[in-house]
Amino acid sequence: MNQPDLPGLFITFEGVEGAGKSTLIAAVRHCLDEQGVDYLATREPGGNPTCERIRELLLHRHELDIAATAELLLMFASRAQLLEQDILPALAAGRLVLSDRFTDASYAYQGAGRELGFEQVAALEQIVHPHLQPDLTMFLDLPVALGMVRKQDQQPDRIEAEALAFFERVRAGYQRRIEQQPQRFMLLDASLPAHQVASQACARIADLLHQHRTQGHA
Ligand code: TMP
Repeated sequence: MNQPDLPGLFITFEGVEGAGKSTLIAAVRHCLDEQGVDYLATREPGGNPTCERIRELLLHRHELDIAATAELLLMFASRAQLLEQDILPALAAGRLVLSDRFTDASYAYQGAGRELGFEQVAALEQIVHPHLQPDLTMFLDLPVALGMVRKQDQQPDRIEAEALAFFERVRAGYQRRIEQQPQRFMLLDASLPAHQVASQACARIADLLHQHRTQGHA
């Protein structure tokens, strides 16, 4: 359980660019749907109408030169809004919440990628969600160069348009997060076939749900 007074389960999905995160989330949702499990699926930045406006600004306005600290604050602005409007009410109601990225992405992209440092991210985390951590974070890992090959036919967003060195720092940032909180992460090898990655993830989530129910939750 993420914190004593919230009976729900919070699972986040993180990955380097091109790792197949969207495919994995779709497969996990399919497994849950087949089992009739109720859940809320959301994403960051974005996830509700207000936050999607922030996402639009952050990712799709290539003409804007957004300062690194402003970028970090906007990520947390979206997060604060999504937590208050969607994530916390769902967890309070005992629901399963799946989020396509969460605060680990701010550590990796702004803390490491933009070189703002982990301390600045931790300071905002303290303000926005001092007591909440995901129960489980699935991290899809892939060498950066391979991820870039996979994405080469797609139009990059404002962050995806960064250079290789930026994404090497992002990947190292995620690795540092995993070293700091290893019990929370499940590492998935994104170079494996998508169906294998999905079945590992679904099995782990089924275990977690079972454990949660045997602890007396719905
Ligand atoms: P995605 O939908 O492909 O995951 O795109 C979200 C982008 O936003 C991705 O490039 C990672 C980036 N991002 C950050 O830089 N910091 C954050 O805190 C979050 C949640 C996402």
